[in-house]
Amino acid sequence: AGAALLDARQRPLQDLRISVTDRCNFRCTYCMPKEIFNKDYPYLPHSDLLSFEEILRIAQIFVAQGVRKIRLTGGEPLLRKNIEDLVAMLSTLRTVDGEKIDLALTTNGALLARKAQALKKAGLNRITVSLDALDDTIFKRMNDVDFPVNEVLEGIQAASAAGFNNIKINMVVKAGTNDQEIIPMARYFKSSGHLLRFIEYMDVGASNGWKLDEVLPSADIIEKLRLAGMSLSPLDPRSPSETATRWRHSDEQGEIGFISSVSQAFCHSCSRARLSTQGKLYTCLFASEGYDLRALLRQSPEEQVDQKLSQTITKVWQARDDHYSELRLQQTDLSQRKKIEMSYIGG
Ligand code: GTP
Ligand code: 5AD
Ligand code: SF4
Ligand code: SF4
Repeated sequence: AGAALLDARQRPLQDLRISVTDRCNFRCTYCMPKEIFNKDYPYLPHSDLLSFEEILRIAQIFVAQGVRKIRLTGGEPLLRKNIEDLVAMLSTLRTVDGEKIDLALTTNGALLARKAQALKKAGLNRITVSLDALDDTIFKRMNDVDFPVNEVLEGIQAASAAGFNNIKINMVVKAGTNDQEIIPMARYFKSSGHLLRFIEYMDVGASNGWKLDEVLPSADIIEKLRLAGMSLSPLDPRSPSETATRWRHSDEQGEIGFISSVSQAFCHSCSRARLSTQGKLYTCLFASEGYDLRALLRQSPEEQVDQKLSQTITKVWQARDDHYSELRLQQTDLSQRKKIEMSYIGG
């Protein structure tokens, strides 16, 4: 294996997050608010999407550059037709050290009961389910399409039954909207074998009307859990570039995580590249511009494609200096910045 590809802040390229569709069957208020993502919203036409062959080809180059973890996101990735075929294609990739790729997928769970077995069979390693409340009224208010929470819970059960272990549950906490669900969620998932992670509500995109006073810092959540009688102790990170800090319930029953990108930015070790639905490479969730890899793929002479992709990825990553969440923490004025929607760039 060659030396790791490092960016301008000495961060290695290790993860690739691929958005396979910009559409979703939910309208979470913090991600795709209904007023903006309505029937007039300019979703991408099918011809704009990377085909599975194109995704595989680009992923292969990233893997050759050191990527060891690939996550499929969206929008809602299970809306992409025959997504299990893409999973099967990607699961054949091997890292530069000859190991299997860690292949994961983030879903809202709505179609999971239907898809879990096929995904497992296709070689998917890990599943993360977004779930913001157990209370049906609150859950429906957040997904804003009247989707019942029971069906997501059934999806999680189906994934378990299909053989997925250590399923992660991601809960975005919005103060004043679902903070009363923190304790019920923690209790419900404590002994389930699944790993609940609380996510601080972020100012991603330009549609969700983000306000700092709707962010509940992880430290406050930990305090709430303690007051409810759960005693927690911190665990060491599994890898330096992890998004979540991990805590263990002191009675040994399970683990819980916190993704504190607002109160404790983790840009210093961010090893994540993002490939948009249209094939643009973004080096940060908050990037203003992406680099058009699809154009390289579709316009270069066939025998030059791989080399061009490889050179471009190297060049773009080496120039990467993004650290948006750290700037936000330093209270830099970021209000004029153009931002990409999370549903487009991938969650
Ligand atoms: P694991 O490999 O299972 O640890 O996954 P992950 O935590 O890297 O990915 P996941 O999709 O579960 O990420 C959970 C949430 O963390 C996302 O939905 C985002 O809200 C946030 N997140 C992930 N990556 C980044 C990042 O690079 N920057 C920021 N600011 N937030 C991120
Ligand atoms: N803040 C934090 N996380 C967000 N997600 C989407 N929008 C936001 C936001 N504004 C994440 C959630 C969800 C995933 C698909 O995207 O974690 O689970
Ligand atoms: Fe869809 Fe996930 Fe965004 Fe909700 S957070 S609208 S489920 S992509
Ligand atoms: Fe990485 Fe950008 Fe998120 Fe910082 S804000 S952790 S650089 S994606």
